[in-house]
Amino acid sequence: MALVETLLTHVSTTGALLAAVLLVLVVYLFSMSSSSPEDPPGPKPLPLLGNLHLLDLRQLHMSLFKLSKKYGSVFTVHFGPKKFVVLAGYKTVKQALVNQADEFGERDITPIFQDFNQGLGILFANGDSWKAMRRFALSTLRDFGMGKKMSEEKIVDETRYLREVFEKFQGNPFDTTQPVNYAVSNIISAIVYGKRFEYEDPKFQNMVNKAKKNIQMIGSVVIQIYNMCPALGPWMKTWRLVMKSRESLRREIKELVYVLQETLNPLESRGFIDSFLIHKQSTQDSGETKSHFHEQNLITTVSNLFAAGTDTTGTTLCWGLLLMAKYPHIQDRVQKEIDEILAGREPASEDRKNLPYTDAVIHEVQRLANIVPMNLPHMTSCDVSFNGYVIKKGTCVLPLLTSVLRDETEWETPDSFNPGHFLDENGQLRKRDAFIPFSAGRRACLGESLARMELFLFFTSLLQRFRFTPPPGVSEDDLDLTPVVGFTLNPSPHKLCAISRTESQSN
Ligand code: HEM
Repeated sequence: MALVETLLTHVSTTGALLAAVLLVLVVYLFSMSSSSPEDPPGPKPLPLLGNLHLLDLRQLHMSLFKLSKKYGSVFTVHFGPKKFVVLAGYKTVKQALVNQADEFGERDITPIFQDFNQGLGILFANGDSWKAMRRFALSTLRDFGMGKKMSEEKIVDETRYLREVFEKFQGNPFDTTQPVNYAVSNIISAIVYGKRFEYEDPKFQNMVNKAKKNIQMIGSVVIQIYNMCPALGPWMKTWRLVMKSRESLRREIKELVYVLQETLNPLESRGFIDSFLIHKQSTQDSGETKSHFHEQNLITTVSNLFAAGTDTTGTTLCWGLLLMAKYPHIQDRVQKEIDEILAGREPASEDRKNLPYTDAVIHEVQRLANIVPMNLPHMTSCDVSFNGYVIKKGTCVLPLLTSVLRDETEWETPDSFNPGHFLDENGQLRKRDAFIPFSAGRRACLGESLARMELFLFFTSLLQRFRFTPPPGVSEDDLDLTPVVGFTLNPSPHKLCAISRTESQSN
């Protein structure tokens, strides 16, 4: 019922709805006829709806996780007319993404992401263009210090700006989301554009806030319905908003690219965009006509790096601060360790090995926050024989990260916040195979080392300077850990107090 209501609220013309329903019916009948006995098992789909009646679209990852208990670690599910194969549990996900990496390594591109990226960039692209962009991004990000000293300096500088913002609230409650997102976005800005922005810059604010809003809208129920029935798009307000926002984001990136182009020095690249433009020029000079290095690929790749690199890292940090306020005894231990080891100086990446408890807490924040719960959709590149089933070429596959990060056979207390998951009997960091918040294999996150460095430096630096508490009158128990589901899992709106530790210690 909720699904039908949502659909009706967002579609303005009955005629369009009828046309779309007919279209879906044709596609549905076509897709149903292609099921075979070798297909992975799954709930019987209803005409048109598929298995939607069994799924909570607001908690889709949890619905799928529950279905895996009934149908096993490889099962089929129908979202409307479209068939998906879900992979659940660490062993199955690893088998597919790592041991059969090429077969499971294509990206399934849903209609909204096709609209957004037109098959270009990295996140939602395949084939030679994807390969060229991924390879170039990885090597250029490395050149600009991803996971190395250079990005460490940028992050340490940025933590100072972020701390200044937190200090301005003077211990009063505030929402940490926006300043944290500005700080994290500035790290990507420094790498991509070669410069950071002031948090007050309205253009920068607009870009970061718009990108966050887009990610929320893309994860909405309405857009999930759109993905099942793209013909409805023009009649959906949310789809029109997403497309409008896409245009303005691209315009803004284009303006920044033009400014860099005008001052480009081929001998001295300031960042990713300069390197791309230099590479583009050299392929043109060599007479290559079918190069993937063109303006549309540059703009899409830049917008991908911002989208993938800001919201993910920012959201994880916000979860970390919320969890510290919720569990003050864990915050006590983190701060004790930081005080003992750093003795008041700024943290550096090499301190990580001497801060095993803090490191374990950051790992556990990532495990429990599980911010990309469904992973990004994959697609089989050929007919694949897998665990006794045959998965046809071109099938959309969801390697469910929720089912790995909460796998009962891998984690002692999968549903509770327990840094002990990452500590050995000597209190040293314990590596866990099932810790794959960045996914694994051919499509694994290419920003992992940067993200890990950011999480460590921002988290340690903030915890060194501030005590995080619930607002006055709110108890730790009242802090809600229920996530708001969008494309990524965000904490529910909340405020925290960041109390300066030098003040609280001297009081
Ligand atoms: C805590 C932070 C982050 C998390 C949890 C995260 C997680 C992920 C996940 C789960 C995927 C999908 C992998 C798959 O399809 O199997 C992904 C892909 C990707 N991530 Fe991240 N990510 C984070 C930060 C970043 C950062 C900082 C960047 C940019 C520098 C980035 C860039 C990308 C890109 C470009 C892809 C697409 C890879 C491809 O399709 O080939 N991510 N990430």
